[in-house]
Amino acid sequence: MAAFVKNVWYMAGWSEEMGDAPLARRIANVPRVFFRTTDGAVKALQDRCPHRFAPLSMGKIAGDALQCPYHGLTFDGAGQCVRNFFSDKIPAGAQVQSWACIERDGIIWMWNGDPQSADPTKIHDFEVVRDAPGRKVLRGYTHMNAPYEFATDNLMDLSHIEFVHQGTFAGDGVIFAGKHSVIDEGDTLHSNWWMEKVPAPIAAKPPYADGQIVDHWLDMRWNAPASMKLDIGATLPGKPREEGYQVGGQAHIVTPESETTSHYFTANTRTHAIDDVGMDAFLTNLFNTAFNEEDKPVIEASFANMGTDDFWAAMPLSLGVDQGGTRARRKIEALLKAEASHG
Ligand code: FES
Ligand SMILES: [Fe+2]
Repeated sequence: MAAFVKNVWYMAGWSEEMGDAPLARRIANVPRVFFRTTDGAVKALQDRCPHRFAPLSMGKIAGDALQCPYHGLTFDGAGQCVRNFFSDKIPAGAQVQSWACIERDGIIWMWNGDPQSADPTKIHDFEVVRDAPGRKVLRGYTHMNAPYEFATDNLMDLSHIEFVHQGTFAGDGVIFAGKHSVIDEGDTLHSNWWMEKVPAPIAAKPPYADGQIVDHWLDMRWNAPASMKLDIGATLPGKPREEGYQVGGQAHIVTPESETTSHYFTANTRTHAIDDVGMDAFLTNLFNTAFNEEDKPVIEASFANMGTDDFWAAMPLSLGVDQGGTRARRKIEALLKAEASHG
């Protein structure tokens, strides 16, 4: 069975990563190159010239096409060779694979299947991290030496906050005071925490003061392959959520680079202190510590520690709170199986 689902949208990068130069990014173990055409559209091609296999990402953008750095063969956004410096003829077979891309919410999404079957209605909503008036969005990227499912396990089971995030989000047992629920809606999974009468979490200070007692929620939404959105909020005890403070929200989107490595994209939106550069610096440092220095080492070490064992064959214990990650794994397996049986 293939290792990666084909017919889903993978996050290829943030909009601002796709500038004037081609961007090389391996996704699902295939080297790909992304570039913008003159109308701003993002194109994705196989990052390997069919002549002597130079990475096209080392070349340059020429109008609406990409020129190989080695002998100049030039490919359009559909992967067709459109220029050969040595002849008027384009050699047969002078083409590379291409994939459909759509830019939405500041995210470049790439359909990993046949471009003809790319379905824009299957892109999941991340409006919450789109730049807009009254918001400040901070975006990040972390490379992980672990499969994307290990990052999903981490994000769909936020009980780790109390242990892993001692330097950032841990809240003196706040998670233990919470109720956890996993809701399965077919293509979508939710892993939600609801914590009553707890001290305001760091994400809700301000507007709440240090030590203010609140009801607090952390709602994580998952879609394949590993596109997760986190809603964070707090309200005064017993008050409806709408009367409280809904932190802008976060994106946690993980794209497999290979069977053993991943691209982990994060974004955080806030609706308070949006022009406060001190707040930018504080949050950038907070997220860097949380994701790079707290999550990443334990995820990578857990995967390394599994050695060559298969995840299920190693018989992982179930603690209940880990159901979100387990179900996400099962859904990916079902998608792979369905794709395998349809050829
Ligand atoms: S390797 Fe690309 S043109 Fe020769
Ligand atoms: Fe974490």
